[in-house]
Amino acid sequence: MIGIMAAMPVEVEKLKAHVTDQEERMHGSCFKFTTGKLAGKSVVFAAANVGMVFAGSVATTMIEVYKVQSLLFTGVAGGLKPEQSVGDLVLGADVVNYEFDCRAFSFPFEPDYKYQLGELPFLKWRFFEADPRMLALALEAPRPDGVKLTSGRIASGSIFVTTDKKKAMLASVWEPLGFPDAVEMENAGVAQICKAYDIPYLSVRAISDLIEGDANEDFNTFCAKAADNVFPIIEHVVKCL
Ligand code: ADE
Repeated sequence: MIGIMAAMPVEVEKLKAHVTDQEERMHGSCFKFTTGKLAGKSVVFAAANVGMVFAGSVATTMIEVYKVQSLLFTGVAGGLKPEQSVGDLVLGADVVNYEFDCRAFSFPFEPDYKYQLGELPFLKWRFFEADPRMLALALEAPRPDGVKLTSGRIASGSIFVTTDKKKAMLASVWEPLGFPDAVEMENAGVAQICKAYDIPYLSVRAISDLIEGDANEDFNTFCAKAADNVFPIIEHVVKCL
């Protein structure tokens, strides 16, 4: 079984249209999981809602209940690089939680250890790397005409980052993290769960808003179209896994 997650229902529209033999099951009051077939493979997909808490929970259910052997995340992200266009695809070569910050703290048993932005205590996980095979498959996948695909760092947090904030966070957040390509609100939570269970993971995001312009307005205008651009990549990776 292959798991495919997104945050918002609009980001699973193409899956709803292409997955056959669909069966739905609710977990709790707000998590709908749909099983079925895509490109000849058994899949389960779900839109978790926005944010890392629900995303982490849905990822855990996919692993524990649906026994997924690999997990893909599909959806949109905010661009952080001037050369990006709306609809371009970014593969998360790695992902990091940019709001997770223990830099001000040192544990009594390791007084000289300095935690870095995004670094998880004890385990010392910081950048969650994509599964190399899934990443390679995504890089070779057919993509919509005129759409650029790059792979890079994706930063996750709990803020919808407006254009002004994207710029204000340059020195304090993006620079310490090595200038990520895109920002969104779920991937690091899902990647962290996948690493804890040793489940291969890949995030595929389409850019819905840019480093210039009005992030809020662009998100609302372009979200659905950008989200659709991810589908051929997801389908190819699922087919080849
Ligand atoms: N997802 C898409 N655009 C985003 C942004 N600007 N900030 C956070 N998450 C996003």
